[in-house]
This record gives sequence, C-alpha cells and structure tokens, in this order.
Amino acid sequence: MPKEQYPSMNRPEVNSTAFTPRLLPTFPYAAQNVLYSLAQLVVAAASLFLTVFLFIPLSLLRAMLPKRWLQPVGMTQQEATEKTKRNRVVLVVGASRGIGFSVMKQYVNEPDTVIIAASRRMDHVRSAVARLGKTPATIHCAEIDLNSPNKHIVDAIKQLDIQYGPITHLYEVSGLANSLDDSKDWDLDVVMDLVNVNVVGTITAVMTMYDLMKERRYGKICVVGSTVGHFFPANTLTYSATKSLINSFTTGLRVLGTPVGIEVTSVQPGFIDTRMTDGMKREGSTAPKMGMGDPNGLARTMKQAVEGGGVGVICWPGSQGMIMFALRALNPICDDFGKWVSMKLGLGGRKIS
Ligand SMILES: NC(=O)c1ccc[n+]([C@@H]2O[C@H](COP(=O)([O-])OP(=O)(O)OC[C@H]3O[C@@H](n4cnc5c(N)ncnc54)[C@H](OP(=O)(O)O)[C@@H]3O)[C@@H](O)[C@H]2O)c1
Repeated sequence: MPKEQYPSMNRPEVNSTAFTPRLLPTFPYAAQNVLYSLAQLVVAAASLFLTVFLFIPLSLLRAMLPKRWLQPVGMTQQEATEKTKRNRVVLVVGASRGIGFSVMKQYVNEPDTVIIAASRRMDHVRSAVARLGKTPATIHCAEIDLNSPNKHIVDAIKQLDIQYGPITHLYEVSGLANSLDDSKDWDLDVVMDLVNVNVVGTITAVMTMYDLMKERRYGKICVVGSTVGHFFPANTLTYSATKSLINSFTTGLRVLGTPVGIEVTSVQPGFIDTRMTDGMKREGSTAPKMGMGDPNGLARTMKQAVEGGGVGVICWPGSQGMIMFALRALNPICDDFGKWVSMKLGLGGRKIS
C-alpha cells in the first residue's frame, strides 16, 4: 500500500524539527545532570560488585541444592496438586494470538493440566484453540475484555476460578498498541483505550487473582510489560508509559507476594514478531528485522522461569534487554535527547502511540 494512504506517517509532530535555543540546558541543570550520572556510576559499580561476589555464588549454590528445597514457599507442589486435584490450572489472558498463544502452546502437551484460554473475543480464542487440534491438556475458552468495567473483569475471573479452578497460574499477556489500526490517530480516546487495557484492565485481572491466591497461599502470576518501559522513542509515549507502570507494579508485587506463597514474574520483552510489531512495520518502523524475537522462544523462557523459580525479570531477546537496561542510566538531559533521536530514527514507527 502506498505511503500516502497512512495519514499518521506524515504527522507533523513526528517529522518536524522544532529547535529553538530556549531548549539548550541551563548551566545549573546541566551540572545537576553530571552529578546524576556520577551517582549512577557509583550505584552501577556497587550493583556489579554485589552480583559478582554475592549473587553469582548463591546461584551456583542453588544449582547444587536438592529439588525438594526449591519447592514454592507456603505449600509444596504436592499439596497444591492435592488441593487442585490437577497438576495445574493455567489461565492465559491474551491467548488468541502472538505471545499469549505461544504461552498456551507450552502447556498443551501436558496431561493433567487445565488451560483456560481467554481474550477479548471468544471467536478469536476459539479459532486459536481449534488450530491446536486434539491436545493432552484440557482447554476451555473464555471471553475477558480488559476494556470493560472492572466489576465485569473481576466477576469473569472469579467465575472461571469456581468453574474450572482453583486457578494455580495466571499469565496476563493481553495488551494494546496504537499500531494495530492504521486509520487511528493519537487522541484522548486512543490514550484512554491504552490506559484501560494495558493498565486498569491488566491490574484488575492481576489483583483479582492475587487476592484469590493469597487466601490459598499458593499461586504463580506472570505479567507481560515491555523493555520500552525503560526507554522509548518519544512518539510511543502512551504505550511505553503504560508498560513502565506494569513493569514497576509487577516487580513490586513480586516482593510482596513471596511471603504469602505467590510467585510473580515480570516479563519485559523487546521486539517480538507478532501482529503488534507487524503494525509498527507497516507504520514505517526502522527497528532491525533481524533482531525480532520469536514468540515461541520467549514463551519457553517464560514457562521455565515460572515453573523453575529464581528469575524475577525476563528481558528477551537478551541482547535487547541488555541495551534497554543500559539506557536506564541516561541522565534526564541525555534521556530527552535519546527520546528525540530514536523518534527521528523511526525505531517505534512514524505513528504516535
Ligand atoms: N510484540 C512485541 O514486540 C512486544 C514487545 C513488548 C511487549 N509486548 C507485549 O506483549 C503482550 C502481547 O503482545 P503480542 O505482541 O502478542 O500482541 P498481539 O499479537 O496483538 O496479541 C494481543 C493479545 O491481546 C488481546 N487483547 C487485545 N485487547 C484486549 C482486550 N481489550 N481484552 C483482552 N484481551 C485483549 C488480543 O486478543 P484478541 O485477539 O481477542 O483481540 C490478543 O490475544 C502485550 O501486552 C504487548 O504489549 C509485545
């Protein structure tokens, strides 16, 4: 399709270069930024020291421990199995395609496992499940729209928990970007949709399961945020801000959940080859196609972390995770500049999201 047919690709906000000397930093502000960078160097050195000399030896010790010492806190896997009468009851929200569908595929060959495949539209989930054919695991389809009022989401999840549960695993994968609909420009409606699905709906689903699991003192919650929660091209501000909140919320919940027997894993993918990034490519993204991650590889890594424990944050592919974590060390002036440069380079496409 010719470029002119995507009005958003020619948006003035993304393409213009509005420089004025007023944007140059004042001396006190620049000096303050030097101090921020020096403080970051000290923290990065301390963090490297602690990881090499404390956490690396502890990880080697972990590899030598007997398996029974690595059971989830609060309840053993055997107790959990007795309680649920099944190995696992896995709720995947966003199972109709992309990363969520790949996560579902990780469990379909396991007998004695129940999968509840949910997404915004029942017909999408049904056709995804139909593509899997007959599977050893039992699969039930469900409709959960994260853009609906909170009460609907809470009631839908509680109902699934009664009907097929108790749910032992939640994979909260669903998410929305403004790259899916080429005709939609960035406005308040788009911002509210992204906030409602990626933040309000996501947190409603996670907290509903957290409360149910807390009563049972057992459960695993895996939530998909993004590496763009750390650093992002300026024109992807809404999507990235929602993902930043999810990254923060999930890593905090991991610490709170441990004493009550709930293991929380934060997934922060880089570019993954799905419908979402297809939209970005159509919108002119210059992100290198070679670096796109395979959703099945990510899903395998997610399952290993969720089942094996010991991994708090998954950044995948690892090379992209490394770059995005390094960019967290930008001081505010360089962060502003980096957001502008990456927008001009078109890394997140030409559209505002
Ligand atoms: N692809 C990437 O490069 C990338 C990178 C970092 C993070 N992520 C995150 O990974 C997650 C999955 O993305 P993906 O790439 O697999 O995207 P995708 O292929 O577009 O799949 C999105 C999934 O979310 C569901 N969904 C959308 N709106 C929903 C709503 N209102 N209620 C419930 N479910 C809804 C869709 O269901 P329907 O089919 O029923 O609409 C679909 O199952 C998202 O949270 C995304 O932000 C993706």
